[in-house]
Amino acid sequence: MFNKAVGIIGTGKYVPEKILTNKDLEQLVDTNDEWIVTRTGISERRIAAEHQAASDLAVIASQNALQAAGITADQLDLIIVATVTPDMAFPSTACVVQEKIGAKKAAAFDLSAACSGFIYALANGSNYVASGMGKYVLVIGVEILSRITDYTDRATCILFGDGAGAAVLGEVPTGRGFRSFELGADGSGAELLKVCGGSRNPFNQQLLDERKQFIYMAGNDVFKFAVRIMGSAAEAALEKAGLQKSDIDLLVPHQANMRIIQSALDRLELPAEKCMINLSKYGNMSAASIPVALHEAVEAGRAKDGDCLVFVGFGGGLTWGATVLIW
Ligand code: ACO
Repeated sequence: MFNKAVGIIGTGKYVPEKILTNKDLEQLVDTNDEWIVTRTGISERRIAAEHQAASDLAVIASQNALQAAGITADQLDLIIVATVTPDMAFPSTACVVQEKIGAKKAAAFDLSAACSGFIYALANGSNYVASGMGKYVLVIGVEILSRITDYTDRATCILFGDGAGAAVLGEVPTGRGFRSFELGADGSGAELLKVCGGSRNPFNQQLLDERKQFIYMAGNDVFKFAVRIMGSAAEAALEKAGLQKSDIDLLVPHQANMRIIQSALDRLELPAEKCMINLSKYGNMSAASIPVALHEAVEAGRAKDGDCLVFVGFGGGLTWGATVLIW
């Protein structure tokens, strides 16, 4: 698929210090710890401090990833930030990060594919290196979902959290790196998961009164879509790579709901030990979920040289993505 072998040469993460537990949510809405844990698998999530914007989280995760990769920011050729909670509508958060880390020669742009954003960004970033357009690409998934979460809506406020994960892409030895990508979208599901406040519905008092500045989600529909797409996207990526389900050493899925992850494991016939799960600590961090889980897997020594890793995610759009990576 690629001219050069391109892979991940360093990872990093940052999660805010403040923890919002299920018990804390019991004080805000009519819910309880038992319901949340049973239906979602989530126990707590991180919440950004008032002074923190997406770029602040992204910068720390990026600096960690650069250090792990053993390169400096001025060597970067491109920065892609996957997010639906940028610092502002424009300029891109990627440009803000570029300035803050001192990546003087890097091009920079944001990518909007909701929870699938990190995988979409990996596909773009790895092609940038494979095609020879640049040597090093920084891919970041960052969200401050607490800023667009309605803490009076018990169906959504229990799910989301804040965080950032980053990966540096570069050339790797032949036989390693990304083997395939499977990306997809179904815009007919655009209304199922959305936040207003753009050219269709500009911010005004009516929008605020109707609480449309917050995430709207048709939870059951999204759930059914997720159960269907997680397994099929991962299978399609494996097929493109010429590999089998049994070749997977570690699955790093989007962390939305334990029941969705379990359905993917069932379809891929994988035991839980072959899956990275950190959902209970962080909830759904959208584009940040997969890179944070990946970084924690790397730190825990769960991604070993030559291992077959599969990342798979789904999100608003509707969108989905999966990739096979030989570590
Ligand atoms: N506490 C207690 N009860 C609740 C809560 C809560 N927090 N939330 C909903 N309920 C109630 C409902 O009102 C309903 O009550 P009723 O039967 O009296 O009407 C009952 O629990 C069951 O509700 P369901 O919505 O059917 O619950 P379900 O088991 O489907 O779980 C959930 C809901 C967790 C939201 C699930 O649908 C889900 O995970 N959906 C996918 C969400 C997702 O992954 N989104 C990802 C994309 S995010 C992005 O891209 C930014």
